[in-house]
Amino acid sequence: MKVPFLELKTQYESIKDDINAAINDVIEKTAFAGGPFVKKFEDEFAAFCGTQQCIGVGSGTDALWLALLGLGIGPGDEVITVPNTFIATTEAISFCGARPVFVDVEDKTYTMDPALVEKTITPKTKAIIPVHLFGQMADMDPIMEIARKHGLFVIEDACQAHGAEYKGKMAGTIGDAGCFSFYPGKNLGAYGEAGAVVTNNADLDNKIRMLRDHGQAKKYYHGLIGWNARMDGIQGAILSVKLKRLPGWNEARRNNAKLYNDLLRKVDGLVPPSEAPYSKHVYHLYVIRVKNRDALIAALAKKDVYCGIHYPITIHLQDAYKFLGKGKGSFPVAEESASEFVSLPMYPELTQEMIEYAVKELKESMSARVS
Ligand SMILES: Cc1ncc(COP(=O)(O)O)c(C=O)c1O
Repeated sequence: MKVPFLELKTQYESIKDDINAAINDVIEKTAFAGGPFVKKFEDEFAAFCGTQQCIGVGSGTDALWLALLGLGIGPGDEVITVPNTFIATTEAISFCGARPVFVDVEDKTYTMDPALVEKTITPKTKAIIPVHLFGQMADMDPIMEIARKHGLFVIEDACQAHGAEYKGKMAGTIGDAGCFSFYPGKNLGAYGEAGAVVTNNADLDNKIRMLRDHGQAKKYYHGLIGWNARMDGIQGAILSVKLKRLPGWNEARRNNAKLYNDLLRKVDGLVPPSEAPYSKHVYHLYVIRVKNRDALIAALAKKDVYCGIHYPITIHLQDAYKFLGKGKGSFPVAEESASEFVSLPMYPELTQEMIEYAVKELKESMSARVS
């Protein structure tokens, strides 16, 4: 049996007629850049999240960048975030001219440790970006409390957390803005690049709409210096088709995670993911921890079970961010977990047999290591 790390074709086959009709519709109506299909998806995604506004943009990276720009973050400002994220989180901060300031993460959820946030606040701090990593939301209540106390904006990086919940509230809806990626492998994935910002702030909505479209609210009248960060029509139409299925797909991911959890109970030297009591995890990734992971990943690949690593090197140790001057040991929880993470195959279409096979092979290579 073969268990790919990610496999998008099976899902496409299951919705092929709707997807092909949607693409055809966009082409027939030549609504390629922005336009009615993007607008329709924006309305549907805002309703799904429960926010007043959703702005479709070109990628999750655009979403983060434009949300920061829209809130006025710029040169001289500091933005607090975590070092164990995809680099886009910090690139967005850097591309505003601001400086990322890291805090370490909690040992069980790998999301921002609220207890560490306050001591990193300086007079330059303008915003906090908690990252809802692997499909689980950060502990938002204490983060929001600190933000309110210090007058800081909160931008949720919800790029891995479509439909995740915190105490019944949807990812992206608690802070000033929530940023989503629809990169193809995400829980809600386009068939190309796409992203969105959700917000209840009408001014911010207005600003991001202008920024994503060359700073214009009316064609050729440029009130701001903006950029081209529009979502394209085909992606909007595809996302509308797929959004209807997202709750079912997230449930399938949760069931797959439950099966993994049951089968992986009490495996020596393996730490399964944990779901915090406040959280509804949507398992964008199912990430375990083991020592000497490279040998395990290689052994599993020989058995046709393919794994990933998210992410092998924390951001403060990347060459691009050496200038921040944070060496090894600066963020021990993020660093140690990053050296042990293994992402097992996870997608709604995984079958029980595939999970059972992957776990059987995993257990065999773990016990071969011990004996
Ligand atoms: C946590 C996180 N932030 C930001 C992004 C950037 O999204 P995109 O690839 O759509 O630009 C991603 C996507 O990979 C992500 O996982």
